[in-house]
This record gives sequence, structure tokens and C-alpha cells, in this order.
Amino acid sequence: MTEQAGGWSLRVVDSYDEVASIAADAVTETVARVPDAAITLPTGSTPIGMYEELVRRVRAGEIDLNHAHIFTLDEYLGQRPDDVASLTRWLFETFLTPAGIPDTNIHLVPAAADDPEAAAAAYEADLAVHGGLELAVLGLGPNGHIAFNEPGSPPDSRTRVLDLEPGTIRQSEEYWKGDTAVPHRAMTLGLGTILEARRIVLIVSGASKSEIVRASLEGPQTLDVPASWLRNVGSRLEVVLDRAAASGLSDTAG
Ligand code: PGA
Repeated sequence: MTEQAGGWSLRVVDSYDEVASIAADAVTETVARVPDAAITLPTGSTPIGMYEELVRRVRAGEIDLNHAHIFTLDEYLGQRPDDVASLTRWLFETFLTPAGIPDTNIHLVPAAADDPEAAAAAYEADLAVHGGLELAVLGLGPNGHIAFNEPGSPPDSRTRVLDLEPGTIRQSEEYWKGDTAVPHRAMTLGLGTILEARRIVLIVSGASKSEIVRASLEGPQTLDVPASWLRNVGSRLEVVLDRAAASGLSDTAG
């Protein structure tokens, strides 16, 4: 692990499995210290290994997630948790149900609300009642998005509705293997909301992300690369990369 100039830490590991287990460790440590912690967790390909490991730990009695409060990161606008292309449905199937998270402790980004703006403000208020985010585990979008905070998202943005970029829509359609049309708008936890988390763990895997990893960690801080703002939070940020994802960095000593 190397500490970077801004005080955040970079860890480059040999394999995807190590990325997954380090991310699972962050969740495990968080709930051991703060059992009722508010935690947000990502969807996508990158966190699948983390979820497998967390479910294994739950079944082995190595972690107790019964009191943690899970706040979802993002969802396509208008999608309900049982819709085919719902990220929430994916998270239930992959993690929330197999890990036995009590329904009362699951907080869903209100993407299907009649009044999304009011519901987004209520979601922020609910998070505040639970003390704000103790932990945010994040993936990195090919365009540098964090959750669905697309390029142009200000670093102080709150939970809101926004338009998805064409590349993100394509990425999503590929993820659902073309089975379903993906809405072109989404609701996301705000970048500013995420940046307030007391611990942020960014996990990235694979050579296809090496250029956006470089732009995020070594390029200028810019609205064009939302992840570049993560570097503002000092030691609250930990970046965990496999060697392929780190291959574009000038210093990959991990
Ligand atoms: P991925 O998605 O893990 O499927 O690459 C990351 C993201 O777009 O945030």
C-alpha cells in the first residue's frame, strides 16, 4: 500500500480475487466497529467477487450484517425492484437476499417515485438520520462515473435524477445482454453525498479501465472525470486495483 500526495492510499494487488477480498474486509471491519453502519455498495461486474465473499462470510458466521443499513447507490429512473433491468433487483439477487439483510435495513434509492426530486431529498434525510455513510464501496465507470454521477456532475451534488451518457447506456445494455431496453435517465446518490462517507473504497479491475484509472488518479481534477474528485478526501479514500487496472499509472508500486 502506498500513501499518495493527497493522503489517500493506493493498493495494487495481483488478482481480481484479492480486490474482492479487500473490499469484503472493508465491509467486515466496518460492521465490526459500527454494527448499525450506513453502507452503500455498487452494482456491476467488478463487485461480484466481493458479494460472493461476503455471502460466504455470512454463512460461515464470520460477519454479522443484521444491523447494518444498506443504502443503494443508483437505479434507472422509473425502475422498480422487480423490473428486469433493475439494479436493485440485481443487488437483491446477488447480495441482499443471500446475505439475509433484513428488509427494514434496506434503503432503496427512490427511482420510481412520483415526485423524484422530493423523494431524493427524503432519501438524503433518511441517510442523515442513520449518521451518513460510514462506508462507500464504489466501482469506476468507463467514463469516470461514480455511481451514476456522469461527467459534468459537480463534486457537491446531492441525490438527484440525471441523463445517462450514450456510452453508459451501451454498457448497461451489454450488461443485460441486450435482453432489455435500458432507461436513459437514472437516480443516483450524489457525488457530494458519497464524498462525505467516512471511508471510501474504490475497486477497479481489468486493463479496459487502465486509462480511466490513470485519468482519475493522475489527471487533472475536472468535471469531465467525476472520480477525480475522490482524491479530495485524503485518508478517507482507499483505491484497490488489480495489476491490469493499474497498468496505466506512472507509479504502480503497490
Ligand atoms: P463495472 O461497472 O463494474 O460493470 O465495470 C462499474 C461502473 O460503471 O460503475
